[in-house]
Amino acid sequence: MADRVLITTDDLEQAVRVNAALEQAGYDTAMVSSLDDVRAAVGSREPDAIVLTGGLHESTAKRLLAAAREHGVSTLGLVEPTDADPSQVGHELGLTGWLKKPPLDPGEITATVRRLIERRRLQQRTGILGESPAIQEVLVKIEQMAPVTSTVLIEGESGTGKELVARAIHDLSPRRGKAFIAVNSAGLPETLLESELFGHEKGSFTGAAERRLGRFELANGGTIFLDEVAEMPSATQVKLLRVLEDRTFFRVGGTQPIHVDVRVIAATNKSLKEAVALGTFRDDLFYRLNVLSIYLTPLRERRSDIPLLVRTFIAEFAKTLDRNFKGITPDALQILVDADWPGNVRQLRNLIESMVVLAPEGEIRASDIPRDIRERTRTLPVRIPSPQPQSQEVAGQELEFIFRTLVELKMQLEDLRRRIEERPAERVEVIEVGTRDSGLGTREIEAGVDPLASSPESPTPVIYRPGMSMTDVERAAIDAALRETHGNRRKAAETLGIGERTLYRKLKEYAID
Ligand SMILES: Nc1ncnc2c1ncn2[C@@H]1O[C@H](COP(=O)(O)OP(=O)(O)OP(=O)(O)O)[C@@H](O)[C@H]1O
Ligand SMILES: [Mg+2]
Repeated sequence: MADRVLITTDDLEQAVRVNAALEQAGYDTAMVSSLDDVRAAVGSREPDAIVLTGGLHESTAKRLLAAAREHGVSTLGLVEPTDADPSQVGHELGLTGWLKKPPLDPGEITATVRRLIERRRLQQRTGILGESPAIQEVLVKIEQMAPVTSTVLIEGESGTGKELVARAIHDLSPRRGKAFIAVNSAGLPETLLESELFGHEKGSFTGAAERRLGRFELANGGTIFLDEVAEMPSATQVKLLRVLEDRTFFRVGGTQPIHVDVRVIAATNKSLKEAVALGTFRDDLFYRLNVLSIYLTPLRERRSDIPLLVRTFIAEFAKTLDRNFKGITPDALQILVDADWPGNVRQLRNLIESMVVLAPEGEIRASDIPRDIRERTRTLPVRIPSPQPQSQEVAGQELEFIFRTLVELKMQLEDLRRRIEERPAERVEVIEVGTRDSGLGTREIEAGVDPLASSPESPTPVIYRPGMSMTDVERAAIDAALRETHGNRRKAAETLGIGERTLYRKLKEYAID
C-alpha cells in the first residue's frame, strides 16, 4: 500500500506543487485546508507524514504539530524566506523535517518525505519513540553508524535508552544475523570480569574446571555491548585497550592469542571525561571508545516526547496485561509532562505499567499519580554534561544546577523528616519485594489510591520500590488482595479489577497457593 501524506493548503501554490510531486512519485496524498479536514482524512487512515506548506507560527499549525507528535507522525515544514534560520524554526516548532521556500524542487520534496517516512519506520522497528529534535538526531546517527564497524560510545543518564540504541545499531547493521552480547562492567570483581570477557582455560584458577569461552569470543561476527564501562577496573581497562587495538586477546590462563571480529559499543551513565579527569579511567581507552559518540538527552529536556511515550506505554501495557483501559485524563498527562523524571524513560515506563495495573477507574487520573511525581519532588539526578564545549553561560547554568539540586535535596530531607514525625503510630505492614538498587527513593502507594488498601479493618499499604519488576508488583498486589479477602479468590479478583480466570492464570504462573 502506498504511503499516505497529508498536505496543508496554507500556501496553496506550494501545496499544489508538492501534491503533484508526491503523487507522481507514487504517494497516496490528500490536501487539507483545516483541522476538520485533517480529522476526516485521518479517520480513514493515519498518515505517514504531513507536509505543512505555510502558517507555521499560527495556532492551527501548532495544534496540528502537537497532534502529529503525539501520534508519532513525521512532519515536514516549508519555512518562509523571511525566517532567517530554518533549522531554528524547525527546532522551536518541533518539526521532524524542514525545507526553505522557494523554490522547491520536486525531487527534493519527494526525497525529504521519503527520508522522514523511512525514519518513522526505523522508529517502529527499533522501538525508539520520540519526535523531538534530540531523538531525531539520535536516529540520524544510528542510521549513519549502523553500516560501519567503528566503536561507538553512548552516554546518557540512567534510563535514557542507551541499551535500546545499542541494539538498534546492531539490528540495522550487517551484523544483525550474529550475536549481540551485553556485559555489565559494574559490580564484578576484576578476575571474574576478565574471565567473563575473555574466557578462561581449564585449571587457570580454583574452580575453573572447564575451558570457558568469553563474551568476546561468543560475540564473534556480531556486537559486544560494554555497559557501565566507567566502572571497569583499571587492569581490565588495559586488556580492553589491547583488544580494541588489534582485536586480539588471551583467555585467562591461556597462551594462544585469539583473534575476533567484534564490533564494540560501550555505554556509560557517568561522564567518562570526568572519570578521565579524576584518574579512574584511562584517557587512551577513552579515545579508543569515543570514535563515534551518541549522547542521549534526559527526558526532562525533551518534554515534548512525553505524551507520545505515555500513550504508547498505556496502549502496550493495557494489551499485555489484558486490561480494558481508557487512557489518561488531560490534567494527569500534564502532571507527567511537567515531572522531572530523574530515572528518565525507564521510570516513566515503570510508573505507567504500575498505574495501568492499579488505577481503579480504568483510566489514569491525576489522583492516581504518586505524590512525589505530582509534587515534582526531585531526586538527585546523575547528570552528564552534553559533550559540546561549554560556554561560560553553560558553566554558570551548571553551577546553578548544582546549587538548585542541593537546595532541593535539603527540602526533600525536611519533607521526609516532617512526614516521619507526622506519621500516625499505627501498625504498618510492609510488603517488600524486588530490588532496591535504583536509588530513586521509596514511594508509597497512598491508601486512598491503592485499591488494595480499601478494606477498612486491615489497611495494607504496599510499598513500591522503583526497580521492582511488573511481576513483583503483581505478585505483591495479588498476595495483598488474597490476604485482605481471607483467600476468597472471587473477591480478590474483584478487588484487583481483573477477571477470576485471569487471577487463576496468574496464581498458577506465580505459583501462589
Ligand atoms: N526513546 C525511547 N522510546 C521508547 N522506549 C524507550 C526509549 N528510551 C528508553 N526506553 C525504554 O526505557 C527503558 C530503559 O531503557 P534502557 O535500558 O535502554 O536505558 P539505559 O540508558 O540503558 O539505562 P541504564 O543506564 O540504567 O542501564 C527500556 O524499557 C527502554 O525500552
Ligand atoms: Mg542500560
